[in-house]
Amino acid sequence: MSRSIAALLTLGVPGLASVAVAADTGQAVTFHEHVLPIFQRSCQTCHRPGGDNVAGMVAPMSLMTYEEARPWARSIARLVQNREMPPWDATDHTAGVFVNERTLTGNEIDTVVAWVGRGAPKGDPAKGPAPREFEDTGGFLIGRPDLIVYMEEPYFVGDDVEDEQPNFFITLTEEMLPEPRWIQAIEYQPDAEFVHHITGRALTPNEDGEVDVLSENTFSLGSIAAGEDPTIYPPGFGNLLRAGMVVRLNVHYHKEPGPGTSGHDRSAVAFRFHPVGAEVKHKVTWNTIGAGAFEIPPGHGRWRVGSSRVFEKDTVLLSLHPHMHFRGESMKYTAHYPDGGAEVLLDVPEYDYSWQTNYIYRDPKVLPAGTRIEIEAVYDNSETRLEEYPFLDIGRAVDWGARSIDEMMAPFLAWTYVEPGDVAAIRAAAGAGSTGGGE
Ligand code: HEC
Repeated sequence: MSRSIAALLTLGVPGLASVAVAADTGQAVTFHEHVLPIFQRSCQTCHRPGGDNVAGMVAPMSLMTYEEARPWARSIARLVQNREMPPWDATDHTAGVFVNERTLTGNEIDTVVAWVGRGAPKGDPAKGPAPREFEDTGGFLIGRPDLIVYMEEPYFVGDDVEDEQPNFFITLTEEMLPEPRWIQAIEYQPDAEFVHHITGRALTPNEDGEVDVLSENTFSLGSIAAGEDPTIYPPGFGNLLRAGMVVRLNVHYHKEPGPGTSGHDRSAVAFRFHPVGAEVKHKVTWNTIGAGAFEIPPGHGRWRVGSSRVFEKDTVLLSLHPHMHFRGESMKYTAHYPDGGAEVLLDVPEYDYSWQTNYIYRDPKVLPAGTRIEIEAVYDNSETRLEEYPFLDIGRAVDWGARSIDEMMAPFLAWTYVEPGDVAAIRAAAGAGSTGGGE
């Protein structure tokens, strides 16, 4: 199970030899022999020509070859050492838990730092791996989509607009979707630069053709914000998309208003489907269990906001996605089990607005009925925030708002209730995935 998600994410690197590490052996550390394997595994999906565009975060340079990497050696050592690269904000206690994890081992960090410290020597290309090949997916992280749904018309955003959040409704035709299909992966494709984020929903019109967002027959299509990975479901999990349904895209445009800043946008959402005939038993819900009412006092450096939700039935979690704005400092998800035990599911001590990671479980996480998930979010509305975001007005109280200079407390989860009888099968499939899947 885990392997197929990894493959979908272009993360699994089949055929790559395990990373040879020389940092602690005293031998000469060279690019080709010791550093390139690390870059191939942990950097090149983004750092290559046409590399991964993780919701607007595009790496500024290629690290495919020695010649490309050499000029960046010092900044590579610095960012790797202080763990800014690769981007991943969860603590080590969840190492191995999430399939899209982007981290280096201590030994790999030491190797890169030692290489730079010794003058970044090239070494013998014959002793290193062959160049890593990347599949051409047309720029999609989920692989080539089965269906791309575009806004019907380009939408014009005028010079005077600072924030605007229109809805677009696109009806799925028979031509687009000849037969109903189970969604396996969703990836947004923002078009204009001033697209700030997008959320999507699939709606089923009633007999009069009206769509009701709150009706039973709707489901979320997740979202896209800076640095957010696509949504991906394991085998057996998804939602059914069929012709006649309406895809609603809620697009938030944000820019500095002024002459010459206007433009058109025609964003899209792309889907991959489970294979025809594959059994999909579990419909996925994606929503936040956050707090809508809070107020962060002016100048306060550590303002805590909490929220929680009890899951009444046996539940399977598929992914976690902390969302806050510029003042967001940290977010933690803790599960309190009915037997009294507790487990920190995700701890993001230094939330980074630019990397709004979707933490996707390698194996679906089973929670027994009665589990309460508690969220603690901490906000910094003090002077220290100005170092990174000098434009923030820390002299005012901040509450919930769509603008990034307001705040949100939105711990998203993708999850589904399951019948007690399903749990064993899900656990078994997960177990088979982790032992047989490997990487
Ligand atoms: C998920 C995509 C991704 C991965 C994986 C990744 N990077 Fe980056 N990297 C970026 C992006 C995007 C930027 C520019 C924005 C930023 O700084 O956050 C960046 C910036 C950098 C910079 C700073 C460049 C500058 O302009 O100063 C360095 C150095 C760097 N990365 C090195 C690495 C190394 C080394 C690895 C692997 C160990 C790595 N990155 C893995 C996406 C990635």
